Order: sequence, then structure tokens, then C-alpha cells
Amino acid sequence: MSGVNKNIVILISGSGSNMAAIVETSLKRRWQARFGARVVAVISNKAGAQGLAWAQEHDIANAALDHGAYSSREAFDAALMAEIDRHEPTLVVLAGFMRILTPGFVQHYEGQLVNIHPSLLPAFTGLKTHQRAIEMGCRFAGATVHRVTSELDHGEILDQAVVPVLPDDTAETLSARVLTQEHVIYPRAIEQLLSA
Ligand code: GAR
Repeated sequence: MSGVNKNIVILISGSGSNMAAIVETSLKRRWQARFGARVVAVISNKAGAQGLAWAQEHDIANAALDHGAYSSREAFDAALMAEIDRHEPTLVVLAGFMRILTPGFVQHYEGQLVNIHPSLLPAFTGLKTHQRAIEMGCRFAGATVHRVTSELDHGEILDQAVVPVLPDDTAETLSARVLTQEHVIYPRAIEQLLSA
């Protein structure tokens, strides 16, 4: 990935634990010195997102755009693009960003957009992945980092982690086990992209 400054913009909707893992890894592994890369902004579609407060405390530019205030998906995505583009991003990282994106948005960031999904894609696209994996009797579950296309939870797989499904798992216990691994593979996949 060429360019001197590699600005990373992270989009969140909730607790932002993947965002925090990425920021912490970027500092620990000196992405700024090694790749000219840093997390320059965190943007949420929910004003109350816990992750926004974390970004604020860590002096990272942050903004909330309430999707409910826009008349259409296209109008929201246009506003979101304008907010993202102020930061001249090299990578736009979806980290628990719970919005379906318009094809126009996906095209605008072609080659720059990545996501993490809490399943072993291509299995279990969409929501309630852990509950569905348990109900199907899966012995293994996991998470996938992938490039984003206009098809939901598709796109080239960049990294995956596998965890066991234990006999007494609930969606909550399995989700916690998967999340721990998300915090490993997401920063790792991004570092790989930065170093390519
Ligand atoms: C993560 O488990 C992520 O994989 C999932 O939301 C959670 C966000 O947690 N993403 C999706 O389900 C996207 N379809 P976080 O806010 O603590 O990073």
C-alpha cells in the first residue's frame, strides 16, 4: 500500500472493543514510524456509542452521525462519506458498524474498506451468528476479517480465527470467546495490509 500518510478511519456503532484493540496495537507496534499509519478518526452512527467516549479519552478525533436524522440510506451514506473524506483515509475500517452500506459507498472506498464479522464466513452472514452456530450444532465458530463488497458479509477473506464451541455455550459465552480472537486478527490483518 503506497503513500506517505496512511490515515485510518474506524466506523463503530457500539462498544468499540475492536477499535480499541486496533488503536492499542497501532501504538504498541509503531505503525506510525513503520508505515506512516495511524488511526485519525472514529465515527459512529450512534451518539451514545461507548467507543466514542474511549476515542475522546484517547484524543482521537471523533464524530457521531445519527442515521435516523437522514431521509434515506443514500443521504446518510453521502453525509458519512463527507465526514470520512475530511480525514483523507487510506483505510476505512468497519469495527462493529451495524449498518448496511449502499453500493455507492462501497464503490467510493473500493480497495480501502474492510470489515470484521463474528463467524467463519461464508457461513452465517448477517445477525445472531453465535446463536445460529450453536443451534446448528457447530463444533467450531470464529471470526473473519474481509474486504467489503456490496454483497453483505462477502468479499475476499483476509484473516480468520477459529474457536471451539463448548457443550454448555450460550450465545454470550461463545461471543466473548470469539471477541477475544477478533482483537488478535483485526489488528493483524490491518498491519498486513499496511505492510503490503
Ligand atoms: C464484533 O463482534 C463484530 O465482529 C461484530 O460486532 C461486534 C462489535 O464489537 N460485527 C458485526 O456483527 C458486523 N456484522 P465491538 O464494538 O466491541 O468491536
